[in-house]
Amino acid sequence: MEDFRQIQKRIEQLRDQLHYHNNRYYVLDSPEISDGEYDLLMRELLRLETQHPELITTDSPTHRVGAAPLEAFDTIDHEVPMLSLGNVFDHDELQTWHKRISGMLAHDDFEIVCEHKMDGLAVSLLYESRRFIRGATRGDGLRGEDVTQNLRTIRSIPLVLPKDAPDKLEVRGEVYISKAGFKKLNDDRANEEQPLFANPRNAAAGSLRQLDSRVTAKRPLDICIYFGRGNLPATHGETLQYLKSLGFKINPHSSLVSSIGEVQDYYNRWLEQREDIEYEADGIVVKVNSIDAQNALGSVGREPRWAIAYKFPPTQATTKLLDIGINVGRTGSLNPYAMLEPVSVGGVVIKSAALHNEDDIRRKDIRIGDTVIVQRAGDVIPEVVGPVVSKRTGAERTFEIPDICPVCGSEVIRPEGEAMDRCTGAACPAQLYEHIKHFVSRGAMDIRGVGQYLIAALLEQEMVKDVSDLYYLKEEQVAQLERMAEKSAANAIGSIEKSKQRPFARLLFALGIRHVGDETAEIFAKRFGSMNKLAQASEDELLEIDFIGPKIAQSIVAFFRQQDNIRIVERLRQAGIRMEADVAGPDNLPLAGQEYVITGKLEFSPRKDIEAALRELGAATSSTVTRKTNYLVAGVDPGSKMAKAQQLGVEILSEDDLLRTLEKYK
Ligand code: IVH
Repeated sequence: MEDFRQIQKRIEQLRDQLHYHNNRYYVLDSPEISDGEYDLLMRELLRLETQHPELITTDSPTHRVGAAPLEAFDTIDHEVPMLSLGNVFDHDELQTWHKRISGMLAHDDFEIVCEHKMDGLAVSLLYESRRFIRGATRGDGLRGEDVTQNLRTIRSIPLVLPKDAPDKLEVRGEVYISKAGFKKLNDDRANEEQPLFANPRNAAAGSLRQLDSRVTAKRPLDICIYFGRGNLPATHGETLQYLKSLGFKINPHSSLVSSIGEVQDYYNRWLEQREDIEYEADGIVVKVNSIDAQNALGSVGREPRWAIAYKFPPTQATTKLLDIGINVGRTGSLNPYAMLEPVSVGGVVIKSAALHNEDDIRRKDIRIGDTVIVQRAGDVIPEVVGPVVSKRTGAERTFEIPDICPVCGSEVIRPEGEAMDRCTGAACPAQLYEHIKHFVSRGAMDIRGVGQYLIAALLEQEMVKDVSDLYYLKEEQVAQLERMAEKSAANAIGSIEKSKQRPFARLLFALGIRHVGDETAEIFAKRFGSMNKLAQASEDELLEIDFIGPKIAQSIVAFFRQQDNIRIVERLRQAGIRMEADVAGPDNLPLAGQEYVITGKLEFSPRKDIEAALRELGAATSSTVTRKTNYLVAGVDPGSKMAKAQQLGVEILSEDDLLRTLEKYK
């Protein structure tokens, strides 16, 4: 047996290393080791923790993936209330604020720190004996919700602080989702036909308030700390730097200034660059730097006098809703959109905006001809917030989804329990167009030479009736199409040809099976290994897989039940597209480079089967323990090899451990 204390030490060592590299990667943005090396450390820790559950602690880096769901959140009283901020909207108001506090401090040359006002939600993190023990939302300022489990999944929150950190520390900051993270999140949701988040703030709030922290763990949440309470430096600026040295992520753009003119410069600069900031910022926060001065100024009600939010102008505008148009999506959904009188919103001219669905339009009581409020957040499609009812003239019309598809004339139905109306036309050109667009898109088959014009032309000429037809096109045929140069025809055919090499998971995603996004496709490809096996899977088999729910399972089964789909898949297969998952080369097999020795009698399976399974995963097997041996698997009555292994410090596994390893890579 390996010494228990030795294992404990190794676990601590691994945790320290993982905490360190986590900080390099997620906070400092400068990793020192590769993802693969990080994974190795993580895997070793996971293995030791599985073998020794008594050594698992909640601050282990393995806990970033979430824990069992909660029934409800507990309420937490904040030890010190979480304040909010007063607002100013222009230079005059800013100056008034500055004058008032200059009066109270009896001078006006105090230092000021300017920061971005990040648009997320405020949380408090409590550390005791250097460990993250509790985290809460702001709530009403006096009490919030205990979201500790969820906060643990945020990689930029340190779970353990360095040795010289204060014994007790509270920090506060803004949990947010970056613009890029938000876009990816919503793209994925669109692919899986889940409702989209309206903006990054809603997405962050929704993600942090999940009862199942495994869901939170998959959301791209991040945090910036802007406040600390404990034994900390005498100024706000130094406090931030100190917190950074403890491993916290702080706002990267804060600036120390000493006059109100410089505050205005900071504001102007960032207002101009607002679009380029990696997260949504709705203004700047202006704070008195000296903590003594902050204390002297105190607060009024829930707002400190020593800080103020200087808000950016809203990215909302009002304009006229000229009409409501309809796009037919790839799955036949009828998506209404607003046709607007062009209006500038935060510097960008908008002519159309999302309206989601008929119920949403009705709930907001949006009518054609209304003056409406439109809003834009980051990279998101602009949306109509609602009507300005006071501007109504009586000439406005309510909107109804048509009974027949505006593109193909087929009947429109609303499947039970769904929010979207759908065209029932199996050959609806709008669906086919969107479907092919999805098939050739970057994350799918990535066929760069086939763009929107070409797709439209191919459909028009009826040269393509489903995605498999793409692979049977001839260059001469494509070159004949109007406005098609010879070179681009060759380019199109070349990139179609190249796409035959895309991995199986990509094809699975490209097929546009409802609810199957890129991640789900990866899961299926890994689990089933081939199109044939997936096509034969029953709903129950599919449901056994982690993360696969009934909607996806039903959708897969329904897809492969349709003769048309089977025909398309067969034609794709005949065209030479890969329908099997990658078989890893010997070097990237999961157990490559590891040597196993088995000794004693195994209880569950014949030794030669186990050895074969190990070799299949890339491991070498041997009958003698040497320095090269990585693991000795000890069965019943292990004999002398055990002593040899102990002497050489070779790790010893039980048959159970081994089976778990094999199971993991099956
Ligand atoms: S300081 C007493 N700094 O704005 C000071 N808040 O409207 C309390 N916020 O609840 C907050 N960025 O959620 C501070 N750099 C920043 C901030 C910030 C965003 C949020 C925070 C707060 C709200 C107040």
